[in-house]
Amino acid sequence: MDIDELISKLTLEEKASLCSGIDMWRTKPIEKISLPSITMTDGPHGVRKQDSEKEKQGIFTSAPATCFPTASLTACSFDRELLEAEGGAIAEECIKEDIQILLGPGTNIKRSPLCGRNFEYFSEDPFLSSSLSSSFIKGVQNRGVGCCLKHFAVNNQENRRLSVDAKVDERTLHEIYLASFEDAIKASKPVSVMCSYNKVNGTYASENPYLLTEILRKKWGFNGIVISDWGAVNDRAKGIDAGLNLEMPSSMGVNDKEIVKAVKNGTLSEKALDKMVYELIETIFKLYNDKKHIDNPSLFHDNHELARKAARESIVLLKNEGVLPLNPNDKICFIGEFAEKPRFQGGGSSNINPISIDTVMNEVSKICNVDYSKGFSSTEDILDEDLFKEAILKSKDSDVCVIFAGLPNSFESEGYDRSHMRLPDAQNKLIDEILKVQKNVVIVLQNGSPIEMPWIDSTRGILEAYLGGEASGSAIVDILFGKQNPCGKLAETFPKKLSHNPSYLYYDGEKDDAVYGEGIFVGYRYYDKKDLEVLFPFGHGLSYTNFEYSNMKLDKDKIFEDETLKVTVDIKNTGDFPGKEIAQLYIGKKEKGFAIRPIMELKGFEKVFLDKGETKTITFLLNKRSFSYYNTKLNDFHIESGDYIIYIGKSSRNIILKEEVYVESKVKIDYAITINTAFKDILEVKGGEEFLSSLTKDMPIFNTDIKESPLTDMFRGMYKEMTLRSVGMFMYPRMNNDELQKKIDDFFYK
Ligand code: BGC
Repeated sequence: MDIDELISKLTLEEKASLCSGIDMWRTKPIEKISLPSITMTDGPHGVRKQDSEKEKQGIFTSAPATCFPTASLTACSFDRELLEAEGGAIAEECIKEDIQILLGPGTNIKRSPLCGRNFEYFSEDPFLSSSLSSSFIKGVQNRGVGCCLKHFAVNNQENRRLSVDAKVDERTLHEIYLASFEDAIKASKPVSVMCSYNKVNGTYASENPYLLTEILRKKWGFNGIVISDWGAVNDRAKGIDAGLNLEMPSSMGVNDKEIVKAVKNGTLSEKALDKMVYELIETIFKLYNDKKHIDNPSLFHDNHELARKAARESIVLLKNEGVLPLNPNDKICFIGEFAEKPRFQGGGSSNINPISIDTVMNEVSKICNVDYSKGFSSTEDILDEDLFKEAILKSKDSDVCVIFAGLPNSFESEGYDRSHMRLPDAQNKLIDEILKVQKNVVIVLQNGSPIEMPWIDSTRGILEAYLGGEASGSAIVDILFGKQNPCGKLAETFPKKLSHNPSYLYYDGEKDDAVYGEGIFVGYRYYDKKDLEVLFPFGHGLSYTNFEYSNMKLDKDKIFEDETLKVTVDIKNTGDFPGKEIAQLYIGKKEKGFAIRPIMELKGFEKVFLDKGETKTITFLLNKRSFSYYNTKLNDFHIESGDYIIYIGKSSRNIILKEEVYVESKVKIDYAITINTAFKDILEVKGGEEFLSSLTKDMPIFNTDIKESPLTDMFRGMYKEMTLRSVGMFMYPRMNNDELQKKIDDFFYK
């Protein structure tokens, strides 16, 4: 099909009209060129198909669909195949509903536990977040349905989400916030990307040429379409110029006129408009022609089972002092309304109208009798004396008590941020009271992001179930009774308290200015560097069995930056249950070089199933990016030559093995040497000492043969702080600044 020819048949007005939807969820068809309309829908944890005709219905009345666990939970699976399977299953429901684009996944970084939408995002770590997004996209798109990766970019808070200006330095932008999108876009090629509501460094994401053109298209090779978040458009003509193809929902013609006006008065080139239209037409035809048919009468049943599996493979056993798995023959008491009314999804645009909901109480009744007391409400923070008394009595009168605690819907949601990191006071109070009468207490948590745990030392077991989708109830019971061995690990750090979080000093910003003052030190990168104790570290998760790591091997002890390094390690299941282990590989530079860097960063993870007594060898492949940081002078990721430590661990704070490798960069100098570069920096560069002594040898003050005296240290110190500019006039022969710079260029750059 010749798209240029189709475009040539369209009037300026028709082209402009294509750049926004026809309604809430569909693109505009144009009969004259046989362009069909395609439909999109939320996303990301299931299909929220709303009737376009009756779009005022609101978010709770969408067509029934399978509600999968939220990303905050599935991230803890560290399981690429699982995410791909979930993507595929959701795509099949899209096909059933005649949807061509699923609005998801959401891959923004969890900067603060307060972000109301953290439940919809994967991690505080860009490598993990991007890898899992990538797998999910593959799963969806392999079925011929498109993804819309969102929200591009730096959308890390709900507070002021339409007006906030995320002020983030260049290195942090690339190394943390963009990196979370980068691999997913390069490796899985989503057909579309959703630009976020916020500004990034002064410009709305919806009209940001740096983000939408320079980075996305030119640097990463993205060739799909950019869709605005719903209502994110500020200046439509600027958006066209910057690379925003489609405004959603429909602008009802208002912005079509703005586009036409801008082309007519010359502020927008028709060529820029044609480019946006070209990409749109290409994508619409592709998705429309790729439409598949699905005929699976057991689709919802199969997907419910997959949702259950996804939750089982992701729930994290945070603490276990021999209290789990539960013994069905014991006298067990369940407390907390979440056991009968689970909180299994987050509020806002990702809200699914689930097919069927498994509750803990229903599921446990299939195994044994447990005593139950509501104890507290799952929707409000109200202390009810009668409920408290009953719960305390029942827990006292049991062998073990499981408390189902969590955050009510109103405590976290799309659209606003949390104001603190605590559970409702009534829940904390009841937990305290129960701990006074019962020593075998297990807490099961249903929440979208971390909470403080004032009672942690007195509880014997903690299970983090996050928001586990429609089958969360059965998945929780499977784990509590040992039908499933827990195998999830945290995709984010749980700090001891909110004030420990690195963004704490800046998070609320100054009205619309949100300064990302913590820079690259997000999540564990910060807690590790500050040597802060945390409640639970990134990557932490227990199992009912034990794993031993041994025999770590690197296939080389020195590599050049374009080579691949292979790391292998043996893992053995030495306990009494079959189980899965998530081995994590982190890398850190051994000694400080030019760049300030985290102690270590996640660069590999593998999940492996091991039967009792079984050993497997797992392999990680590392490349240039694994060792790099973003160098703002080179405008690219760059490796500093030097020794790097490769850590293999069960979590970021439980490193079992480590080895070193020397990595040699192709770029010899990490920073530009000028006449204003301090001698101490020149001395670090290969040949630097030779270069300086050739210039300063005839200056008595810097004569390296000076006799040891009380002043020697001072002279040496002063020497290191000098620059060529500052001593140029004392040199022999005397040199002006230009002559000095030429010396530098001849020596280092030729
Ligand atoms: C959300 C998007 C969502 C869209 C459509 C927006 O408010 O930020 O994530 O896809 O609405 O529901």
